[in-house]
Amino acid sequence: MRLLIRNIKGLVQTEQNKRLAVCGKDMQNVEVVENAYLLVEDGRIKDFGKDSDLLQVNADTVIDATDRFVLPSFCDSHTHLVYAGSREVEYIDKIKGLSYEEIAQSGGGIINSAKKLQQTPEEVLYEDAMQRLETITKYGTGAVEIKSGYGFTTEAELKMLRVIRKLKENSPLTIKANFLGAHGVPLEYKNNIDAFVDKVVNEMIPKVADEGLADFIDVFCDRGFFTVEQTDRMLYEGVKRGLKPKIHANELAASGGIQIGVKYNALSVDHLEYTGDEEIACLKNSLTMPTILPGAAFFLNMQYAPARKMIEAGLPVAMASDYNPGSSPSGNMQLILTFACVNYKLLPQEAINATTINTAYAMDVVEDLGSIAVGKKANFYITTKIPTIEYLPYSYGENKVERVFLNGKEI
Ligand code: NIG
Ligand code: FE
Repeated sequence: MRLLIRNIKGLVQTEQNKRLAVCGKDMQNVEVVENAYLLVEDGRIKDFGKDSDLLQVNADTVIDATDRFVLPSFCDSHTHLVYAGSREVEYIDKIKGLSYEEIAQSGGGIINSAKKLQQTPEEVLYEDAMQRLETITKYGTGAVEIKSGYGFTTEAELKMLRVIRKLKENSPLTIKANFLGAHGVPLEYKNNIDAFVDKVVNEMIPKVADEGLADFIDVFCDRGFFTVEQTDRMLYEGVKRGLKPKIHANELAASGGIQIGVKYNALSVDHLEYTGDEEIACLKNSLTMPTILPGAAFFLNMQYAPARKMIEAGLPVAMASDYNPGSSPSGNMQLILTFACVNYKLLPQEAINATTINTAYAMDVVEDLGSIAVGKKANFYITTKIPTIEYLPYSYGENKVERVFLNGKEI
């Protein structure tokens, strides 16, 4: 099957040589082929270039993209989009002045979601999550990482991961599963967190690994949640069993989470509101992608991670949605582009790099996704009629995605 898109006003984020990520000053550059064509064969990118250079090709479908841009789909490398119910009650508590930590300590927050999830049948979780996937697809996401972590019991964690496995099987999106057994402390373990860590290490991780239910392992390593030592124990066991680490770190305090992530060659460390010179130096000599979650910082009214400082230090920066019912109830990556520019002072080109190729690295799919390169999966979208690529973050709140293609097929 061949699909040809012609007369593209700008084919964005093209690569002649595939890169692993984009760092520092290079984040300002996004390669754009003007007046371009894009040829797709059997779900993969076959060729692209100037429309005027296009030789005679046979295609089953030809699409005219006059006045429109084509971009690689967003890769959303951090979400919790399998969840039960919603938490707008806490949203009101927050408006009235309670902090995220205060809500968590009074049995709300993640504990509240865990209670709801335990009582919700697998089929319902699946249907709700599938609906969310369909929505984010319409907004341009083509790959998504999904975490467990609202289970708290072994049984409920396995239930969440089975839902993610079923989503992988039935959704056209590229999906990665992340086991986040240590997301919160169940009430019955409040006074003995180590005993819960024992359970994650001795019971949950072996089961998850044996059943092949996860690609990654995650820990919420932060003040009031899990310590560096506890994180160390869980990552050690996870890595031993073939799970790649990705860490929630430094959202609430300088927790040491970044350092422990780097120690384990984590694919990414995420959140990073409390990142200082020491953490930046540690990331500089690592393979770990610093990942900022602008939706959560916006929604919880937190201080912003020092994105510009990281870029000036030569680091890459990735940005993901953190789609979850507590701290970021939206998976709209176009909004993340706007937050990146307004709140973190990224240029639109930097924001595009942060949400495509760098997030592709952070979810271990950069071989296949995150740019327009020959041989990569044909996951891309055609915009509405827009004047420039800068218009994408500028015109916030409106969907600029007109047509979506995943694995070369229109959705
Ligand atoms: O990434 N920080 C920890 N976990 C999630 C929030 C989950 C929730 O509040 O339900 C996050 O923001
Ligand atoms: Fe998260």
